[in-house]
Amino acid sequence: MVALALLLLVLFPACAENAPQDVLDPAGEVARTADQLWDITFGIAAVVFFVVEAALIYTVVKFRRRPGREAAQFHGNTRVEVILTVVPALILAGIAVPTVQSIFTLSEEPEGALQVKLVGHRFWWEYQYTGAGVVTANELHIPTGRPVFINLEGALTDRVTGEAAVNHSYWIPRLAGTQDIIPGRDTYMTLEADKPGTYLGQCKEFCGLGHAYMRQRVIAHPPQQFQAWLQEQTGVPPSPTGLAAEGEELFTSGQFPGGPACASCHAADSTELTAPNTGPNLTHFASRRTFAAGVFENNEANLSAWLAGPADVKPGATMPDLGLTQEQIDALIAYLETRE
Ligand code: CUA
Repeated sequence: MVALALLLLVLFPACAENAPQDVLDPAGEVARTADQLWDITFGIAAVVFFVVEAALIYTVVKFRRRPGREAAQFHGNTRVEVILTVVPALILAGIAVPTVQSIFTLSEEPEGALQVKLVGHRFWWEYQYTGAGVVTANELHIPTGRPVFINLEGALTDRVTGEAAVNHSYWIPRLAGTQDIIPGRDTYMTLEADKPGTYLGQCKEFCGLGHAYMRQRVIAHPPQQFQAWLQEQTGVPPSPTGLAAEGEELFTSGQFPGGPACASCHAADSTELTAPNTGPNLTHFASRRTFAAGVFENNEANLSAWLAGPADVKPGATMPDLGLTQEQIDALIAYLETRE
């Protein structure tokens, strides 16, 4: 009964009708390459499993101890031992051929790829579009039908906390396999999407208290719409008026009980890499669907709760509780809403 319950527990998750992070449902060339290798390996493993199990059951029944007869002994049978060594070695050598081929194919930088630099922080993601002068956070926009070559920067020090950096791992199951972010070492990966849509992922390497809240979101657009998006992200929104202008004042020079002005960590009117960047660049914040590493939908209620106490709504958040009043929060939200 317990065994059955455990088995069902393992099997039921496989029935999910809408599984946005299904590795067996690849949505692009890179993920497909890995999936094809999986199909081959799984097929061979399934054949091996059934052949071995059949032989095992046959042997156990046929040569078992019976009244008046000892169980048969095979120990020291050279022929059997040679077969049991050579056959698995041949199978493994056979599987190695497509495996090594796939590894080499996937590790090459594809021609005509879009170049993106990715930095993993505790606990959010920064994306820099190399050459386009665009820096954004937590939502990676890509064109469809074109490979995206990502350089995962392995900084030794975490820019947000000032502590030694830790490993993270980037994984959008429907677009590519995983790639680790390793302090002191640059790593690379390619991902690609065939069709427009939103593809989800999450940090796959335990990196601290906020690990489970380090979500990834890739938004694929048709090439022209992607170019339009990229163009929008290069500009700087105009200076606001009214309540939003009060928010801007607080943002750039407010002094709060819990810390300095927002602008000491976040840029909101520059996408230069030299702008303050210990927190996500907020210049085009209003164009994002989510915030805080994809944990919250970008709306007023969520922003209000976040600004009132980041770590209360997202454990591990490194943004301090600034001790803002509701009026200050409202003004800051009004300002952020102008950052399109
Ligand atoms: Cu970042 Cu786990």
